[in-house]
Amino acid sequence: MTEDVDRLDAQAREILNRNDRGGYTIPTAGLYPYQWNWDSAFAAWGFSTFDIDRAWTEIETLFKAQWPDGMVPHIVFWQDDPGYFPGPDIWGTGTDPASSGISQPPVAAILARRIWEADPDAGRDRIAALYPRLVDWHRWWHRHRCTSGVAAITHPWESGRDNCPDWDPGMAGVDGSGVGPYTRRDTGHVDASMRPRKEDYDRYLAILNFGRGCGWDQETIIADGPFLMADPFITFILIRAHRDLAAIGKALGHDTAELEAWADALVAGLPTIWNEALGCHDARDLRSGRFAGVLGSGAFLAWLAGPVAPEVEARLVEVWDRVPHGVPSADPAYAGFEPRRYWRGPMWPVVNSLIAMGLTDAGRADLAERLRAETAGAITRGGFNEYFDPVDGTPCGGKDFSWTAAIWLTWASPSAGAKGAT
Ligand code: GLC
Repeated sequence: MTEDVDRLDAQAREILNRNDRGGYTIPTAGLYPYQWNWDSAFAAWGFSTFDIDRAWTEIETLFKAQWPDGMVPHIVFWQDDPGYFPGPDIWGTGTDPASSGISQPPVAAILARRIWEADPDAGRDRIAALYPRLVDWHRWWHRHRCTSGVAAITHPWESGRDNCPDWDPGMAGVDGSGVGPYTRRDTGHVDASMRPRKEDYDRYLAILNFGRGCGWDQETIIADGPFLMADPFITFILIRAHRDLAAIGKALGHDTAELEAWADALVAGLPTIWNEALGCHDARDLRSGRFAGVLGSGAFLAWLAGPVAPEVEARLVEVWDRVPHGVPSADPAYAGFEPRRYWRGPMWPVVNSLIAMGLTDAGRADLAERLRAETAGAITRGGFNEYFDPVDGTPCGGKDFSWTAAIWLTWASPSAGAKGAT
């Protein structure tokens, strides 16, 4: 047992080191050859268990790509790679370094706080320098994405959960018929049955084209863009991230009233995404007002914002109980559930680590431990894959994934608690 754990710990460190491209880590070779925003924050958390200096460098490199308006892009194209589509020329943002024109779940402050706590002396100067940049990014979220009261996304890719059923009502209103011919690269790396469908990709590109067409002007995108949906997943993350950043700010001697007010405003907005029929928070199309009507990972992050009412907890556990291998990204009882198609049902270890963080802090250590054990079991049997079939535990998607390795080292590994990283 201990030997197995030692071997898996060593393998996880080896994956992070192998995916290191010098200052930043790619999610996995082939499928995702650049720096991705929230993947990097998790990679940094993983590095913090064995190389604290490298952990800080990862986040610093990401923030080198921050836009003047505070946005931190979802992809930074540090070097060309023909194996990925859509690349920098398609995004056409004109930034240096080249980057995409949307953001991704703002987990950086949550994880930076943990990295700092792992070694307060080593981190003090690094977090002090990053702090104003993190505040600028959070302000960008507040100004440009939280105008409805909760956090919204302007592209499914901005949610980090590309093709989950949450986005179906918004995607139904997007016309993807005019995007012309293009060659996808993802299906050259991973079986097409595990990836988003062509009709999804057409729409992803149509939304991207709109952003490029207006020079990535946020006011235009929010007012007239083809897609705008309220996202419970990012809302819960942002509440927690604002609070964690406020804790960091306080420890550094800053006035953090602004951050606390942003978190409170999001909490006040939560009733706008409460779907009574579902008994949970739900994604909502801000153009039509329609709810997605499917219980998924977004609702499961509720614990990140504090304790959850007993009836909501019962509802969430009811859905979790339908599968043996971790929390499914969409309710298995939902008609469109697909256990292996990316975000339309599969279990994602990285998401489980966030759910468990909320559970632990909300006083549900028992549920957090159950989730850790299920996640660890899937990784131990299947490897450090991108995600897993929650019904039979089959490893899916890309192999040797940085964030799966990272959450193994910080949370899922039986050795993680011993290191005090949970
Ligand atoms: C996919 C995922 C997204 C992730 C990226 C790189 O687009 O949906 O969450 O950041 O791959 O791993």
